[in-house]
Amino acid sequence: MAGLIPQNFIDDLLARVDIVDVIDARTTLKKTGKNYSGLCPFHNEKTPSFSVEPDKQFYYCFGCGAGGNAIGFVMNYENLDFPEAIENIAAQMGIDVPREESSVSQQTREKNQTLYDILEQCVRFYQSQLRRHPDRTHAVDYLKSRGLSGEIARDFALGYAPPGWNNLLDALGKDESSKKALLNAGMLIENPDNKQHPLYDRFRDRIIYPIRDNRGRVIAFGGRVMGDDKPKYLNSPETPVFHKGEELYGLYEARKNMRKLERILIVEGYMDVIALAQNDIHYCVATLGTATSTSHLRRLFKLVPEVVFCFDGDKAGREAAWRALEQVLPLMEDGRTARFLFLPEGEDPDSQVRRIGNSEFVRNLSEATQLAEFFFESLGKKVDMNSLEGRASLGKMSLPLIQKIPSGIYHQLILDQLGSITGVDPQTLGNMEKSLEKTADRGAARGATREASRDDGRGMGSTPPPALESVPVSNQPPGRKKQSGRSACMRAVNLILLKPDIVNELDEAGEIAELVSPDSDLLLEVIALAKKHPSSSTPELLGRIYATPLGSQLTQLLNREQITPAEGVTQEFNEIITHLLDSQRRRKSHHGWLEEARQKVHSRQNRLNQEQNPPGES
Ligand code: CTP
Ligand code: MN
Repeated sequence: MAGLIPQNFIDDLLARVDIVDVIDARTTLKKTGKNYSGLCPFHNEKTPSFSVEPDKQFYYCFGCGAGGNAIGFVMNYENLDFPEAIENIAAQMGIDVPREESSVSQQTREKNQTLYDILEQCVRFYQSQLRRHPDRTHAVDYLKSRGLSGEIARDFALGYAPPGWNNLLDALGKDESSKKALLNAGMLIENPDNKQHPLYDRFRDRIIYPIRDNRGRVIAFGGRVMGDDKPKYLNSPETPVFHKGEELYGLYEARKNMRKLERILIVEGYMDVIALAQNDIHYCVATLGTATSTSHLRRLFKLVPEVVFCFDGDKAGREAAWRALEQVLPLMEDGRTARFLFLPEGEDPDSQVRRIGNSEFVRNLSEATQLAEFFFESLGKKVDMNSLEGRASLGKMSLPLIQKIPSGIYHQLILDQLGSITGVDPQTLGNMEKSLEKTADRGAARGATREASRDDGRGMGSTPPPALESVPVSNQPPGRKKQSGRSACMRAVNLILLKPDIVNELDEAGEIAELVSPDSDLLLEVIALAKKHPSSSTPELLGRIYATPLGSQLTQLLNREQITPAEGVTQEFNEIITHLLDSQRRRKSHHGWLEEARQKVHSRQNRLNQEQNPPGES
């Protein structure tokens, strides 16, 4: 992976690029006085409320609140991340982007590269054994018996580890350094007690399934016995490049095969993915025997709007499906679908698709159980729906789960359905849900905010809960929509971005450093950055922030913000800070506050330390 883009390059680029050129190349602008205006590319409108200020090198939209510098514009418009946007702008200007690396991340990268290289050699070795080894018919017959063609074996780069203790070792471990690489990649096992084979091949007499990462690099292997020996499957151990719980087997192959994925079917095993592909169903991934996690699902929803979970129809299968449902609820934004395909007992997707074939399997898939149906059916089984008490306890069990669904139409529809099942008016249910929210402790709500902002935004992020604290916005200038419930800190961040020198009078080490408020982390970072670079212009400051881990959080939050016209910035900023500090002081008497503040300062300190000594890049 490429290293970091040097900050001075970003500063230079921002100094040289004209935001008017960048935006004008993508959407039509008209000169209006010293500024430019046009139809906003980020929302639908008939009259222009999108404005570009060449003086500030800043754009904003009075209609939807989008705003930022040239890099931010390209990020949003082209749906790119920060480094990609820099590349894009630099390319437009005919400049190459330099990269720098910390020596630590460079070392890590070099080490990992050694592992990728050796693993690639291993794949080729196992594939060649499947073609050439004297005992190859044994393996080929096994694959044929499982209904696989040579073509599918090639697509998934299946291989054969012949019997014997040191086939791979002899073929690839030619010197000390390659032996070490094989060992670190998990391909060899070291056992000094074994006098005959102190170092030997992990995979022996097995069918080999290479596991690839997102980019197609081989990171590990699975190996299956061809008979009934135990263990049936053997996997690579955890290595610097393989973390079993995070991988999705078959994802790379699916993306390679289908240009436009529409849904993804999640199954359990290697052979399920491969057998489905053999039957022309190329959109399957396997979790390698581990449970599907929210982080698996978050990755999948970045690629497709629909996931289908596949489970056994038996009791264990339904319980696993319920756990998957709990993982997927927080990701169920409008436009996303999750469904459940239950197979007859004793079947897995491999056996099922081989028995019924493509078209029936696909038909079952398209008729798979909707999340809502599975949800109410599972809960309904636990109560007597004919009694008042039963329906009440159904409501009681459902609400905390429904609460996990991001607010939106889907959320409302599920509430409506709960309403029609229990006979309680959905409005009342909504109010009950809100009062649950209020009684939930503050800590939990803050956790949820953090969770939401970890998503990269740009239309995919989850909706954070309503801000816990909002500024009463007074003297609304015309054209600025009133936004209730937005966080005071975000308003302040927004104002600093417009006028970085408003922080000059602030004592950032004083009372404000202890601020405990939604988004106060971001506010404190932005204040610190603006203070550290006192003469930053708006675009320079934005550039610096986009380059930090907070960049995507900021983009996401800014997308929801209105931009305040330049006059009134200082006044509003001062009002907000006063308001924040006032409410903070009022809270000081509140039990537990001090501890919370201490922890906050502590974690902030840790994070700053971490940024100064960044861990290896991912
Ligand atoms: N698995 C594993 N180690 C095991 C057993 C299972 O890693 N000892 C993982 C494998 O990824 C396997 C998946 O869990 O593919 C599902 O296991 P199982 O249902 O037992 O195997 P199948 O996929 O049905 O394998 P096969 O059809 O080849 O018998
Ligand atoms: Mn199976």
